[in-house]
Amino acid sequence: MIVNKCSYWILLPFTIVSLTLSVEINTDNVHLTGSGSSEEINCTTYNSCRQCADVPVCGWIIEKQICCLYSNQSLLESSIVVAKEFCTEYNVSLTTIDTDYWIKVVVSNIEENSVNNFLNEHAFINFHVEDKIYNASINNGVMASKWVKVDVLTDRIRKTHKINPLHIFYFLIIVNGVKLKFNDPRDHYISYHSWSCPKADCSITYWESDSRKYYCKWCLKNDDCRIAAKQQDSCDIRNATNNAKMVRKTVPSSFDVNGPDLAIESVKPDVLLFTRNTSSMLYITVKNHRFLSDDESTKVTVSGQDCSKVTTVDDRTIKCTVSYYNDPTMSVEGPVVVEYAYNTTAVRLKSAQTFKFVVPSVTGVNPTCGPVTGGTRIELTGQYLNVTTEVGVFFNSMSTPMCKIKEMTRDRISCVTMPLADGKGRGADVGPLLIVVDKMKGTFYRKKKFSYVSEPTVLDGQVFAGIASGDVPLIVRGDFECTGNQQMYVDYKGTTHYGLCAVRDYNGTKAMYCRPPKFDSPAKTTELPLGFTAEMDGKVVRMQKNTPIHYLMYRDPVYVDFEVYNQNYTVHVNGLFPDPMQRRQLDGSYYFEVALLGLQPPDGDDDDDVTLCLVIEVTDSYVKCWPPSGTSLAGVLEIAIVVPDGQAKRTVVVVPRRHKQYHQILKSMQKSQCLIGGFSVLIVCVIAVMFSVKKIRDHSKRYTRRRYMSELRNITAGIEDSSDYLLQDSNTPSAGQRLTNERKKNVK
Ligand SMILES: *[C@@H]1O[C@H](CO)[C@@H](O)[C@H](O)[C@H]1NC(C)=O
Ligand SMILES: *[C@@H]1O[C@H](CO)[C@@H](O)[C@H](O)[C@H]1NC(C)=O
Ligand SMILES: *[C@@H]1O[C@H](CO)[C@@H](O)[C@H](O)[C@H]1NC(C)=O
Ligand SMILES: *[C@@H]1O[C@H](CO)[C@@H](O)[C@H](O)[C@H]1NC(C)=O
Ligand SMILES: *[C@@H]1O[C@H](CO)[C@@H](O)[C@H](O)[C@H]1NC(C)=O
Ligand SMILES: *[C@@H]1O[C@H](CO)[C@@H](O)[C@H](O)[C@H]1NC(C)=O
Ligand SMILES: *[C@@H]1O[C@H](CO)[C@@H](O)[C@H](O)[C@H]1NC(C)=O
Ligand SMILES: *[C@@H]1O[C@H](CO)[C@@H](O)[C@H](O)[C@H]1NC(C)=O
Ligand SMILES: *[C@@H]1O[C@H](CO)[C@@H](O)[C@H](O)[C@H]1NC(C)=O
Ligand SMILES: *[C@@H]1O[C@H](CO)[C@@H](O)[C@H](O)[C@H]1NC(C)=O
Repeated sequence: MIVNKCSYWILLPFTIVSLTLSVEINTDNVHLTGSGSSEEINCTTYNSCRQCADVPVCGWIIEKQICCLYSNQSLLESSIVVAKEFCTEYNVSLTTIDTDYWIKVVVSNIEENSVNNFLNEHAFINFHVEDKIYNASINNGVMASKWVKVDVLTDRIRKTHKINPLHIFYFLIIVNGVKLKFNDPRDHYISYHSWSCPKADCSITYWESDSRKYYCKWCLKNDDCRIAAKQQDSCDIRNATNNAKMVRKTVPSSFDVNGPDLAIESVKPDVLLFTRNTSSMLYITVKNHRFLSDDESTKVTVSGQDCSKVTTVDDRTIKCTVSYYNDPTMSVEGPVVVEYAYNTTAVRLKSAQTFKFVVPSVTGVNPTCGPVTGGTRIELTGQYLNVTTEVGVFFNSMSTPMCKIKEMTRDRISCVTMPLADGKGRGADVGPLLIVVDKMKGTFYRKKKFSYVSEPTVLDGQVFAGIASGDVPLIVRGDFECTGNQQMYVDYKGTTHYGLCAVRDYNGTKAMYCRPPKFDSPAKTTELPLGFTAEMDGKVVRMQKNTPIHYLMYRDPVYVDFEVYNQNYTVHVNGLFPDPMQRRQLDGSYYFEVALLGLQPPDGDDDDDVTLCLVIEVTDSYVKCWPPSGTSLAGVLEIAIVVPDGQAKRTVVVVPRRHKQYHQILKSMQKSQCLIGGFSVLIVCVIAVMFSVKKIRDHSKRYTRRRYMSELRNITAGIEDSSDYLLQDSNTPSAGQRLTNERKKNVK
């Protein structure tokens, strides 16, 4: 009895399972646990023992030659193979004894009980060759049958033939009515040349596509036994469903080879310029090219374009030439196709990777400036930059080569600038960067600019004055293009002291702001040797200056007190203010600000809102400022002198109100609140006055506390901060400008 169903061996519900994280199989129950995507396994779809046994839940039933889901129960049947190492391998060979052909099949693991039981001496074994059936016998694991060929040509006829055609037949073995399934589909084919050629060197490829199956055997030309290398019978093409051989009429005139044994392995290069000045050589490696090759009939196309003059370089390499002419009708991207044409058919190999005709592009240049003396390493970034080695980088025009290429990759060119021959000698020469690919016919870029700059210089005729505390910044005019990490240095008592600088853009002109180092306040104005350095192209350079320059260091200012003039609504800060404090900065403001302390903040307790008194004049003896209009200055007993420091502001000193005015304020408070006499009332009034004074004090204390916090912040922020304030966005108006605007509004 022949049972074709798996249910004979195991329970039918197990035939399909989901392969998930964990699968539990009981004898009478299947529990599927786990979640997510699961792949349905239909064991019956596997057609060979190796494929089947490779899947964890499937097993190969030798007697039935089918694949089934197995359970422990079914394992009891010893004829189930669940590991592919135990699959039976068959070695089919064709031998000639005298003039007879013998088909011999060696079974690899005949000693296994399950195999032995199946292929025992009493088994009915038939060999099928095409549609003919031959009785076969088995002995010691070797199945054999004499092949009574009807179409065997007689020796005499064979020898008179010029060619030695190849014959390919489909072969299968039937044991007790069950078809043996070979692990290797190539075992299903028997091929022979009419003439025996023991040294034939052939390559066999098997693949399935377009619901056909292809078995091809290409042999090298062998004059001894006259094997024709290129003959139309090299391939046996069958219908994959019904196994019917395609007759010559229905064989396609060309077909694609899809097997792993014959394939395009690599194409070099895999990109070419879309617009080319010269033709380009391509090198293509084809696995087993030598079996297919025939120089005259090998044709190569790259993305549809012809690659001509195909030449075999070696057993697996061919070269061909892509013309400089680019066929505009063809796609810019596609596979490389190698076609071997025979008398009536052609086979094609298609590369898995695509070939591209590209236009290189530059998207970035870094850095965008460098000294006129050259030697700057710059990087151009982009796409397909190494598609040709013929790349030139020019400045301004094609007559000025500017960069010597050191390194090229697909997305980066690294080069070193050459000196600029006819530079202006001063300032910067800005020009577009031209990248020319493949000589004249390449692509021309005008997008990116580069600046050739001369050494940084400090303009003559400037006075650099500051105060000992270093709070007055130096404003330096000159050429600082393409520099970084600018510093000033001052020689004092045999030591060089440094201060950080930064270049700020003011209304289109660039100026360098430097914060001088701090010294003890000198007895009188002192002149110290001054210089500036900057980093350019990774090197520290001293800035050029035509005459020696000096740092005029003035004594620190002295703050005495301040007064409020109610008649013209101004505040005067009295003291001694050295000359540098009297200078205005480029935006018209002074470098310091005056903050009014003790004012009730407008909206509750907003810590950062400080009311500023706009400085309008600084003389040797006073600083005059305008408080915002409408501010009551009656309770203001202290002001603070504030300088910018990093992102924050730093209080330099807190200045008290002039003594007389202070007492007047107290008196006026007493008058208004304590007019009614009486001793006990007086005590209450004194307490009240004390309280209001305390309140005022508290206010100024709060400011002072804030100031300490701000200073603490600055100290912890470290040295970078001290240069940060110079780098602030110059577009945001300073507090002084804001106040001016406000005042203007109020005047209207
Ligand atoms: C499993 O595959 C076989 C062969 O392709 C098919 O005949 C059968 O219907 C499939 N079973 C299920 C449940 O899909
Ligand atoms: C088969 O049974 C054994 C023990 O009897 C067990 O360890 C094993 O996991 C079972 N295998 C399957 C696939 O159920
Ligand atoms: C198959 O058999 C032939 C001749 O019997 C032998 O030369 C060959 O090595 C065998 N191949 C394998 C893979 O065992
Ligand atoms: C093949 O075997 C069958 C059964 O043993 C027998 O009837 C038949 O004659 C044999 N055929 C040949 C060609 O030997
Ligand atoms: C293969 O055979 C089936 C019928 O058996 C047929 O429908 C199909 O068209 C054939 N395929 C080819 C490529 O000839
Ligand atoms: C290629 O460039 C050269 C200059 O190097 C030029 O003379 C020639 O005409 C160009 N060829 C083409 C096809 O553009
Ligand atoms: C090509 O095939 C045709 C027709 O089959 C035949 O006449 C011709 O001789 C063949 N040519 C070669 C070179 O084999
Ligand atoms: C271009 O550079 C890439 C690496 O970025 C490299 O793989 C490729 O082979 C290079 N092409 C040429 C033609 O040199
Ligand atoms: C800024 O530049 C504009 C025009 O260039 C000029 O009118 C204006 O006065 C300048 N402002 C300052 C503060 O230099
Ligand atoms: C404001 O008044 C004081 C005292 O009357 C005077 O000294 C000062 O010059 C005046 N300031 C202005 C700007 O008028």
